[in-house]
Amino acid sequence: MNSQRGEWSSRIGFVLAAAGSAIGLGNIWKFPFEVGNHGGAAFVVVYLFFCFVLCFPVMVTEIAIGRKTNKNPVGAYKALGYKNWSIVGILGVLCGVIILSFYNVVAGWAFGYFLEMIIGNFAIGDQFGAFVSDWFQVGIFSAIFMGTTAFIVARGVSAGIERAAKILMPSLLVIMLFLVIYAFTLPNAMEGLKFYLVPDFSKISLKVMYSALGQAFFSLSLGMGALITYGSYLSSRENIVSSAALITLADVGIALIAGLMMFPLVFSQGIEPTGGAGLIFVTLPGVFQSLGPVLGVVIGSLFFLLLSFAALTSTVSLLEVPVSYAVDELGMKRKMAVWSIAGLIFVIGIPSLLANGASDFWSKFIELPGVGMTDFMTFIGYLANDSFLPLGGFLVSVFAAYVWKKNKLHEQIAIGQDHYAGSFVSKFIDVTVSIIAPIILGILFVLTVLNRFFGVDVI
Ligand code: PFF
Repeated sequence: MNSQRGEWSSRIGFVLAAAGSAIGLGNIWKFPFEVGNHGGAAFVVVYLFFCFVLCFPVMVTEIAIGRKTNKNPVGAYKALGYKNWSIVGILGVLCGVIILSFYNVVAGWAFGYFLEMIIGNFAIGDQFGAFVSDWFQVGIFSAIFMGTTAFIVARGVSAGIERAAKILMPSLLVIMLFLVIYAFTLPNAMEGLKFYLVPDFSKISLKVMYSALGQAFFSLSLGMGALITYGSYLSSRENIVSSAALITLADVGIALIAGLMMFPLVFSQGIEPTGGAGLIFVTLPGVFQSLGPVLGVVIGSLFFLLLSFAALTSTVSLLEVPVSYAVDELGMKRKMAVWSIAGLIFVIGIPSLLANGASDFWSKFIELPGVGMTDFMTFIGYLANDSFLPLGGFLVSVFAAYVWKKNKLHEQIAIGQDHYAGSFVSKFIDVTVSIIAPIILGILFVLTVLNRFFGVDVI
Protein backbone atom coordinates (compact mmCIF):
# COMPACT_ATOMS: atom_id res chain seq x y z
CA MET A 1 0.00 0.00 0.00
CA ASN A 2 1.28 3.37 -0.91
CA SER A 3 1.11 5.01 2.51
CA GLN A 4 1.17 8.50 0.97
CA ARG A 5 -2.28 7.98 -0.48
CA GLY A 6 -3.95 7.38 2.88
CA GLU A 7 -6.10 4.49 3.94
CA TRP A 8 -9.39 4.05 5.75
CA SER A 9 -8.77 3.72 9.48
CA SER A 10 -11.02 0.68 9.81
CA ARG A 11 -13.47 -1.44 7.87
CA ILE A 12 -16.40 0.30 9.45
CA GLY A 13 -14.80 3.57 8.31
CA PHE A 14 -14.77 2.35 4.71
CA VAL A 15 -18.30 0.98 4.87
CA LEU A 16 -19.63 4.18 6.39
CA ALA A 17 -17.86 6.39 3.91
CA ALA A 18 -19.01 4.29 0.95
CA ALA A 19 -22.52 4.15 2.40
CA GLY A 20 -22.23 7.91 2.86
CA SER A 21 -21.41 8.19 -0.83
CA ALA A 22 -24.34 6.00 -1.75
CA ILE A 23 -26.87 7.54 0.61
CA GLY A 24 -27.73 11.04 -0.44
CA LEU A 25 -30.15 13.05 -2.50
CA GLY A 26 -30.57 9.96 -4.66
CA ASN A 27 -32.37 8.17 -1.85
CA ILE A 28 -34.38 10.93 -0.26
CA TRP A 29 -35.02 13.40 -3.06
CA LYS A 30 -34.82 11.32 -6.24
CA PHE A 31 -36.07 7.87 -5.27
CA PRO A 32 -39.53 9.05 -4.12
CA PHE A 33 -40.16 11.16 -7.20
CA GLU A 34 -38.97 8.44 -9.56
CA VAL A 35 -41.34 6.02 -7.84
CA GLY A 36 -44.09 8.63 -8.11
CA ASN A 37 -43.41 9.27 -11.80
CA HIS A 38 -43.29 5.60 -12.71
CA GLY A 39 -46.44 4.20 -11.23
CA GLY A 40 -45.48 3.31 -7.66
CA ALA A 41 -44.78 -0.16 -6.34
CA ALA A 42 -44.02 -1.81 -9.70
CA PHE A 43 -41.05 0.54 -10.08
CA VAL A 44 -39.91 -0.38 -6.57
CA VAL A 45 -39.91 -4.09 -7.42
CA VAL A 46 -37.84 -3.58 -10.59
CA TYR A 47 -35.49 -1.29 -8.68
CA LEU A 48 -34.92 -3.86 -5.94
CA PHE A 49 -34.22 -6.54 -8.50
CA PHE A 50 -31.58 -4.38 -10.18
CA CYS A 51 -29.96 -3.37 -6.88
CA PHE A 52 -29.44 -6.87 -5.60
CA VAL A 53 -29.01 -8.93 -8.75
CA LEU A 54 -27.04 -6.55 -10.96
CA CYS A 55 -25.59 -3.76 -8.91
CA PHE A 56 -24.28 -5.67 -5.93
CA PRO A 57 -21.87 -7.81 -8.02
CA VAL A 58 -20.80 -4.73 -9.99
CA MET A 59 -20.07 -3.02 -6.68
CA VAL A 60 -17.91 -5.95 -5.54
CA THR A 61 -16.05 -5.75 -8.85
CA GLU A 62 -15.40 -2.02 -8.60
CA ILE A 63 -14.11 -2.30 -5.04
CA ALA A 64 -11.89 -5.25 -6.00
CA ILE A 65 -10.33 -3.34 -8.91
CA GLY A 66 -9.74 -0.35 -6.66
CA ARG A 67 -8.15 -2.38 -3.89
CA LYS A 68 -6.00 -4.38 -6.27
CA THR A 69 -4.54 -1.30 -7.92
CA ASN A 70 -4.71 1.40 -5.22
CA LYS A 71 -5.56 3.75 -8.02
CA ASN A 72 -8.15 6.16 -9.38
CA PRO A 73 -10.46 4.80 -12.11
CA VAL A 74 -8.16 5.84 -14.96
CA GLY A 75 -4.93 4.66 -13.33
CA ALA A 76 -6.54 1.40 -12.25
CA TYR A 77 -6.93 0.07 -15.79
CA LYS A 78 -3.39 1.16 -16.63
CA ALA A 79 -2.00 -0.46 -13.49
CA LEU A 80 -3.59 -3.75 -14.49
CA GLY A 81 -1.81 -3.46 -17.83
CA TYR A 82 -4.73 -2.42 -20.04
CA LYS A 83 -3.96 1.10 -21.09
CA ASN A 84 -6.72 1.26 -23.70
CA TRP A 85 -9.33 0.52 -21.08
CA SER A 86 -8.43 3.64 -19.15
CA ILE A 87 -10.91 5.35 -21.48
CA VAL A 88 -13.59 3.72 -19.30
CA GLY A 89 -12.02 5.45 -16.33
CA ILE A 90 -12.05 8.74 -18.21
CA LEU A 91 -15.73 8.27 -18.97
CA GLY A 92 -16.26 7.72 -15.24
CA VAL A 93 -14.35 10.84 -14.26
CA LEU A 94 -16.37 12.89 -16.76
CA CYS A 95 -19.57 11.37 -15.47
CA GLY A 96 -18.57 12.37 -11.93
CA VAL A 97 -17.97 15.92 -13.09
CA ILE A 98 -21.38 16.09 -14.82
CA ILE A 99 -23.27 14.55 -11.91
CA LEU A 100 -21.61 16.78 -9.34
CA SER A 101 -22.38 19.86 -11.44
CA PHE A 102 -26.13 19.41 -11.08
CA TYR A 103 -26.14 17.50 -7.79
CA ASN A 104 -24.55 20.52 -6.17
CA VAL A 105 -27.45 22.69 -7.31
CA VAL A 106 -30.04 20.41 -5.71
CA ALA A 107 -27.85 20.27 -2.60
CA GLY A 108 -28.08 24.07 -2.64
CA TRP A 109 -31.88 23.75 -2.56
CA ALA A 110 -31.68 21.45 0.46
CA PHE A 111 -29.36 23.82 2.26
CA GLY A 112 -31.58 26.79 1.39
CA TYR A 113 -34.60 24.92 2.76
CA PHE A 114 -32.70 24.33 5.98
CA LEU A 115 -32.38 28.10 6.39
CA GLU A 116 -36.05 28.63 5.48
CA MET A 117 -37.08 26.09 8.12
CA ILE A 118 -34.99 27.80 10.78
CA ILE A 119 -36.94 30.99 10.28
CA GLY A 120 -40.20 29.02 10.23
CA ASN A 121 -41.07 29.86 6.62
CA PHE A 122 -43.31 26.86 5.99
CA ALA A 123 -44.92 28.61 3.03
CA ILE A 124 -41.75 27.85 1.05
CA GLY A 125 -43.35 24.57 -0.05
CA ASP A 126 -45.89 26.49 -2.15
CA GLN A 127 -43.17 28.82 -3.38
CA PHE A 128 -40.84 26.10 -4.59
CA GLY A 129 -41.01 27.32 -8.20
CA ALA A 130 -40.01 30.84 -7.23
CA PHE A 131 -37.33 29.54 -4.87
CA VAL A 132 -35.53 27.45 -7.50
CA SER A 133 -35.76 30.10 -10.17
CA ASP A 134 -33.92 32.59 -7.96
CA TRP A 135 -30.56 31.65 -9.46
CA PHE A 136 -28.56 34.14 -7.47
CA GLN A 137 -29.72 32.93 -4.08
CA VAL A 138 -29.48 29.25 -5.02
CA GLY A 139 -26.08 30.03 -6.57
CA ILE A 140 -24.83 31.29 -3.23
CA PHE A 141 -26.12 28.21 -1.39
CA SER A 142 -24.53 25.97 -4.02
CA ALA A 143 -21.25 27.82 -3.80
CA ILE A 144 -21.24 27.34 -0.02
CA PHE A 145 -21.95 23.68 -0.59
CA MET A 146 -19.17 23.20 -3.11
CA GLY A 147 -16.77 25.07 -0.84
CA THR A 148 -17.59 22.79 2.08
CA THR A 149 -17.18 19.73 -0.13
CA ALA A 150 -13.78 20.94 -1.30
CA PHE A 151 -12.71 21.71 2.26
CA ILE A 152 -13.48 18.14 3.37
CA VAL A 153 -11.90 16.50 0.32
CA ALA A 154 -8.77 18.61 0.79
CA ARG A 155 -8.25 17.09 4.23
CA GLY A 156 -7.88 13.59 2.76
CA VAL A 157 -10.00 10.51 3.04
CA SER A 158 -9.64 9.34 6.57
CA ALA A 159 -9.71 12.57 8.54
CA GLY A 160 -12.41 14.33 6.60
CA ILE A 161 -14.80 11.92 5.03
CA GLU A 162 -14.90 9.15 7.59
CA ARG A 163 -15.43 11.36 10.59
CA ALA A 164 -18.33 13.26 9.07
CA ALA A 165 -20.08 10.07 7.91
CA LYS A 166 -19.84 8.35 11.28
CA ILE A 167 -21.93 10.86 13.19
CA LEU A 168 -24.37 12.15 10.65
CA MET A 169 -25.73 9.10 8.88
CA PRO A 170 -27.26 7.56 12.03
CA SER A 171 -28.86 10.89 12.99
CA LEU A 172 -30.56 11.11 9.62
CA LEU A 173 -32.00 7.64 10.07
CA VAL A 174 -33.49 8.56 13.45
CA ILE A 175 -35.25 11.62 12.13
CA MET A 176 -36.61 9.77 9.10
CA LEU A 177 -38.02 7.02 11.31
CA PHE A 178 -39.75 9.67 13.40
CA LEU A 179 -41.33 11.08 10.23
CA VAL A 180 -42.41 7.61 9.06
CA ILE A 181 -44.26 7.04 12.33
CA TYR A 182 -45.85 10.47 12.15
CA ALA A 183 -46.82 9.94 8.51
CA PHE A 184 -48.64 6.72 9.38
CA THR A 185 -50.98 8.57 11.73
CA LEU A 186 -52.20 10.96 9.04
CA PRO A 187 -55.41 10.62 7.04
CA ASN A 188 -55.01 8.89 3.67
CA ALA A 189 -51.70 7.39 4.78
CA MET A 190 -52.94 3.96 3.73
CA GLU A 191 -53.61 5.07 0.19
CA GLY A 192 -50.07 6.33 -0.04
CA LEU A 193 -48.75 3.04 1.27
CA LYS A 194 -50.85 1.13 -1.23
CA PHE A 195 -49.44 3.16 -4.10
CA TYR A 196 -45.94 2.53 -2.80
CA LEU A 197 -46.15 -1.11 -1.78
CA VAL A 198 -48.84 -2.91 -3.79
CA PRO A 199 -47.44 -3.47 -7.28
CA ASP A 200 -49.49 -3.29 -10.44
CA PHE A 201 -47.22 -5.26 -12.77
CA SER A 202 -49.01 -4.02 -15.86
CA LYS A 203 -47.22 -0.72 -15.18
CA ILE A 204 -43.81 -2.22 -15.98
CA SER A 205 -42.61 -0.73 -19.26
CA LEU A 206 -39.26 -0.13 -20.88
CA LYS A 207 -39.24 3.35 -19.39
CA VAL A 208 -39.86 1.96 -15.91
CA MET A 209 -37.03 -0.49 -16.41
CA TYR A 210 -34.37 1.92 -17.52
CA SER A 211 -35.40 4.58 -15.04
CA ALA A 212 -35.16 1.99 -12.26
CA LEU A 213 -31.79 0.87 -13.56
CA GLY A 214 -30.45 4.41 -13.72
CA GLN A 215 -31.81 5.06 -10.24
CA ALA A 216 -30.13 1.90 -8.88
CA PHE A 217 -26.74 2.85 -10.34
CA PHE A 218 -27.04 6.46 -9.26
CA SER A 219 -28.15 5.61 -5.76
CA LEU A 220 -25.43 3.03 -5.24
CA SER A 221 -22.76 5.37 -6.69
CA LEU A 222 -21.87 2.78 -9.31
CA GLY A 223 -20.71 2.86 -12.90
CA MET A 224 -18.30 5.79 -12.72
CA GLY A 225 -15.54 4.41 -10.59
CA ALA A 226 -16.42 6.12 -7.30
CA LEU A 227 -16.09 2.75 -5.62
CA ILE A 228 -12.88 1.96 -7.50
CA THR A 229 -11.58 5.15 -5.91
CA TYR A 230 -12.92 4.37 -2.43
CA GLY A 231 -11.77 0.75 -2.77
CA SER A 232 -8.29 2.02 -3.54
CA TYR A 233 -7.99 3.20 0.05
CA LEU A 234 -9.17 -0.15 1.45
CA SER A 235 -6.71 -2.42 3.19
CA SER A 236 -6.33 -6.02 2.10
CA ARG A 237 -7.44 -7.34 5.47
CA GLU A 238 -11.03 -6.40 4.76
CA ASN A 239 -13.82 -8.50 3.36
CA ILE A 240 -15.09 -6.97 0.12
CA VAL A 241 -18.26 -9.02 -0.25
CA SER A 242 -19.65 -8.33 3.18
CA SER A 243 -18.68 -4.66 2.92
CA ALA A 244 -20.53 -4.36 -0.40
CA ALA A 245 -23.51 -6.18 1.06
CA LEU A 246 -23.66 -3.76 3.98
CA ILE A 247 -23.38 -0.73 1.68
CA THR A 248 -26.12 -2.05 -0.63
CA LEU A 249 -28.45 -2.91 2.25
CA ALA A 250 -27.93 0.44 3.95
CA ASP A 251 -28.54 2.35 0.73
CA VAL A 252 -31.61 0.41 -0.32
CA GLY A 253 -32.90 0.50 3.26
CA ILE A 254 -32.70 4.30 3.42
CA ALA A 255 -34.41 4.65 0.03
CA LEU A 256 -37.22 2.34 1.14
CA ILE A 257 -37.64 4.29 4.37
CA ALA A 258 -37.73 7.54 2.41
CA GLY A 259 -40.62 6.09 0.40
CA LEU A 260 -42.41 4.95 3.54
CA MET A 261 -42.13 8.48 4.80
CA MET A 262 -42.99 10.31 1.59
CA PHE A 263 -46.01 8.52 0.12
CA PRO A 264 -48.27 8.69 3.18
CA LEU A 265 -47.28 12.36 3.48
CA VAL A 266 -47.88 13.08 -0.21
CA PHE A 267 -51.29 11.39 -0.21
CA SER A 268 -52.36 12.89 3.11
CA GLN A 269 -51.71 16.34 1.68
CA GLY A 270 -53.58 15.59 -1.53
CA ILE A 271 -50.45 16.22 -3.62
CA GLU A 272 -49.92 14.36 -6.90
CA PRO A 273 -47.11 11.78 -6.58
CA THR A 274 -46.04 12.66 -10.12
CA GLY A 275 -44.74 16.04 -9.01
CA GLY A 276 -41.19 15.36 -10.19
CA ALA A 277 -38.06 17.00 -8.83
CA GLY A 278 -40.04 19.25 -6.50
CA LEU A 279 -41.82 16.44 -4.67
CA ILE A 280 -40.07 16.52 -1.29
CA PHE A 281 -39.58 20.27 -1.42
CA VAL A 282 -43.25 20.92 -2.07
CA THR A 283 -44.60 18.31 0.33
CA LEU A 284 -42.48 18.49 3.45
CA PRO A 285 -42.77 22.12 4.61
CA GLY A 286 -46.54 21.72 5.05
CA VAL A 287 -45.94 18.55 7.04
CA PHE A 288 -43.51 20.33 9.34
CA GLN A 289 -46.00 23.14 9.78
CA SER A 290 -48.59 20.63 10.96
CA LEU A 291 -46.21 19.63 13.79
CA GLY A 292 -46.73 23.05 15.37
CA PRO A 293 -44.52 26.14 15.41
CA VAL A 294 -41.81 24.84 17.74
CA LEU A 295 -41.58 21.17 16.82
CA GLY A 296 -42.07 22.08 13.16
CA VAL A 297 -39.05 24.37 13.19
CA VAL A 298 -36.93 21.85 15.09
CA ILE A 299 -37.79 18.80 12.99
CA GLY A 300 -37.97 20.74 9.72
CA SER A 301 -34.60 22.38 10.10
CA LEU A 302 -32.96 19.20 11.40
CA PHE A 303 -34.35 17.23 8.48
CA PHE A 304 -33.01 19.58 5.82
CA LEU A 305 -29.72 20.00 7.68
CA LEU A 306 -29.19 16.25 7.77
CA LEU A 307 -30.33 15.93 4.17
CA SER A 308 -27.65 18.47 3.31
CA PHE A 309 -25.11 16.38 5.20
CA ALA A 310 -26.22 13.24 3.41
CA ALA A 311 -25.71 15.13 0.17
CA LEU A 312 -22.31 16.29 1.41
CA THR A 313 -20.95 12.78 1.95
CA SER A 314 -22.03 12.09 -1.64
CA THR A 315 -20.59 15.27 -3.17
CA VAL A 316 -17.36 14.47 -1.36
CA SER A 317 -17.15 11.13 -3.16
CA LEU A 318 -18.12 12.72 -6.47
CA LEU A 319 -15.32 15.25 -6.14
CA GLU A 320 -12.85 12.62 -4.92
CA VAL A 321 -13.01 10.82 -8.30
CA PRO A 322 -11.64 13.63 -10.53
CA VAL A 323 -9.32 14.76 -7.72
CA SER A 324 -7.70 11.34 -7.27
CA TYR A 325 -7.32 11.24 -11.05
CA ALA A 326 -5.61 14.64 -11.14
CA VAL A 327 -3.34 13.75 -8.21
CA ASP A 328 -2.34 10.26 -9.40
CA GLU A 329 -2.26 10.76 -13.15
CA LEU A 330 -1.53 14.42 -13.72
CA GLY A 331 0.76 14.81 -10.71
CA MET A 332 -1.17 17.75 -9.26
CA LYS A 333 -0.88 18.64 -5.59
CA ARG A 334 -3.98 17.50 -3.72
CA LYS A 335 -5.02 20.93 -2.43
CA MET A 336 -4.53 22.57 -5.80
CA ALA A 337 -6.45 19.78 -7.54
CA VAL A 338 -9.33 19.99 -5.07
CA TRP A 339 -9.91 23.73 -5.30
CA SER A 340 -9.41 24.10 -9.02
CA ILE A 341 -11.62 21.14 -9.91
CA ALA A 342 -14.33 22.20 -7.45
CA GLY A 343 -14.29 25.70 -8.99
CA LEU A 344 -14.50 24.31 -12.49
CA ILE A 345 -17.40 22.02 -11.65
CA PHE A 346 -19.25 24.88 -10.01
CA VAL A 347 -18.95 26.83 -13.26
CA ILE A 348 -20.07 23.82 -15.30
CA GLY A 349 -23.10 23.73 -12.97
CA ILE A 350 -24.25 27.25 -13.87
CA PRO A 351 -26.56 26.09 -16.71
CA SER A 352 -28.22 23.69 -14.22
CA LEU A 353 -28.63 26.60 -11.84
CA LEU A 354 -30.44 28.50 -14.58
CA ALA A 355 -32.47 25.53 -15.81
CA ASN A 356 -35.23 25.72 -13.21
CA GLY A 357 -37.02 28.82 -14.39
CA ALA A 358 -34.32 31.48 -14.25
CA SER A 359 -33.50 31.32 -17.95
CA ASP A 360 -35.85 30.26 -20.71
CA PHE A 361 -33.04 28.90 -22.81
CA TRP A 362 -31.75 26.46 -20.16
CA SER A 363 -35.22 25.71 -18.75
CA LYS A 364 -36.56 24.66 -22.14
CA PHE A 365 -33.32 23.31 -23.39
CA ILE A 366 -34.21 20.49 -25.72
CA GLU A 367 -37.18 18.65 -27.15
CA LEU A 368 -36.45 14.96 -26.57
CA PRO A 369 -38.43 12.64 -28.84
CA GLY A 370 -38.98 10.17 -26.00
CA VAL A 371 -39.90 12.66 -23.28
CA GLY A 372 -40.85 16.07 -24.67
CA MET A 373 -39.49 19.46 -23.65
CA THR A 374 -36.68 18.97 -21.17
CA ASP A 375 -34.67 21.42 -19.10
CA PHE A 376 -30.89 21.25 -19.14
CA MET A 377 -30.52 19.81 -15.64
CA THR A 378 -32.94 16.96 -16.31
CA PHE A 379 -31.30 16.39 -19.68
CA ILE A 380 -27.80 15.89 -18.32
CA GLY A 381 -29.29 13.76 -15.55
CA TYR A 382 -30.77 11.48 -18.22
CA LEU A 383 -27.45 11.36 -19.99
CA ALA A 384 -25.28 10.71 -16.95
CA ASN A 385 -27.53 8.66 -14.66
CA ASP A 386 -29.61 6.61 -17.00
CA SER A 387 -27.14 6.17 -19.85
CA PHE A 388 -23.50 6.57 -18.82
CA LEU A 389 -23.69 4.88 -15.42
CA PRO A 390 -25.23 1.64 -16.72
CA LEU A 391 -22.79 1.82 -19.65
CA GLY A 392 -19.97 2.12 -17.11
CA GLY A 393 -21.38 -0.91 -15.27
CA PHE A 394 -21.50 -2.85 -18.53
CA LEU A 395 -17.91 -1.97 -19.38
CA VAL A 396 -16.51 -2.73 -15.94
CA SER A 397 -18.23 -6.14 -15.95
CA VAL A 398 -16.96 -7.02 -19.42
CA PHE A 399 -13.49 -5.85 -18.42
CA ALA A 400 -13.39 -7.86 -15.21
CA ALA A 401 -14.80 -11.03 -16.73
CA TYR A 402 -13.10 -11.15 -20.12
CA VAL A 403 -10.09 -8.86 -20.13
CA TRP A 404 -8.69 -8.93 -16.63
CA LYS A 405 -10.23 -12.40 -16.32
CA LYS A 406 -12.52 -13.91 -13.74
CA ASN A 407 -9.86 -15.83 -11.83
CA LYS A 408 -7.97 -12.60 -11.10
CA LEU A 409 -11.18 -10.94 -9.93
CA HIS A 410 -11.98 -13.86 -7.65
CA GLU A 411 -8.42 -13.95 -6.36
CA GLN A 412 -8.71 -10.33 -5.28
CA ILE A 413 -12.14 -10.78 -3.71
CA ALA A 414 -10.91 -13.82 -1.79
CA ILE A 415 -8.23 -11.78 -0.02
CA GLY A 416 -9.56 -10.92 3.41
CA GLN A 417 -12.33 -13.49 3.18
CA ASP A 418 -12.24 -17.10 4.33
CA HIS A 419 -14.09 -19.82 2.40
CA TYR A 420 -14.78 -17.66 -0.66
CA ALA A 421 -13.68 -20.11 -3.35
CA GLY A 422 -16.55 -22.35 -4.44
CA SER A 423 -19.09 -20.57 -2.25
CA PHE A 424 -22.55 -19.62 -3.43
CA VAL A 425 -21.66 -15.96 -3.46
CA SER A 426 -18.60 -16.54 -5.64
CA LYS A 427 -20.73 -18.41 -8.18
CA PHE A 428 -23.37 -15.70 -8.09
CA ILE A 429 -20.77 -12.99 -8.70
CA ASP A 430 -19.23 -15.09 -11.43
CA VAL A 431 -22.44 -15.60 -13.36
CA THR A 432 -23.62 -12.02 -12.93
CA VAL A 433 -20.41 -10.30 -13.89
CA SER A 434 -19.71 -12.54 -16.87
CA ILE A 435 -23.21 -13.15 -18.24
CA ILE A 436 -26.20 -11.44 -16.65
CA ALA A 437 -24.74 -7.94 -16.23
CA PRO A 438 -23.20 -7.65 -19.71
CA ILE A 439 -26.40 -8.86 -21.38
CA ILE A 440 -28.98 -6.89 -19.40
CA LEU A 441 -26.89 -3.73 -19.10
CA GLY A 442 -25.85 -3.86 -22.74
CA ILE A 443 -29.40 -4.30 -24.02
CA LEU A 444 -30.91 -1.74 -21.68
CA PHE A 445 -28.24 0.82 -22.52
CA VAL A 446 -29.02 0.60 -26.22
CA LEU A 447 -32.79 0.66 -25.65
CA THR A 448 -32.53 3.60 -23.27
CA VAL A 449 -30.62 5.73 -25.73
CA LEU A 450 -32.93 4.77 -28.61
CA ASN A 451 -36.06 5.44 -26.62
CA ARG A 452 -35.17 8.54 -24.71
CA PHE A 453 -33.06 10.43 -27.20
CA PHE A 454 -34.50 9.17 -30.49
CA GLY A 455 -38.06 8.35 -29.54
CA VAL A 456 -37.84 4.74 -30.76
CA ASP A 457 -40.37 2.59 -28.91
CA VAL A 458 -39.02 -0.92 -29.02
CA ILE A 459 -41.17 -2.71 -26.47
N1 PFF B 1 -25.30 7.93 -4.66
C1 PFF B 1 -25.50 9.34 -4.52
C2 PFF B 1 -26.93 9.57 -4.11
O1 PFF B 1 -27.73 8.64 -4.15
O2 PFF B 1 -27.26 10.68 -3.74
C3 PFF B 1 -25.12 10.08 -5.77
C4 PFF B 1 -23.80 9.66 -6.35
C5 PFF B 1 -22.65 9.78 -5.58
C6 PFF B 1 -23.74 9.09 -7.60
C7 PFF B 1 -21.44 9.34 -6.08
C8 PFF B 1 -22.55 8.63 -8.11
C9 PFF B 1 -21.41 8.76 -7.33
F1 PFF B 1 -20.29 8.34 -7.80
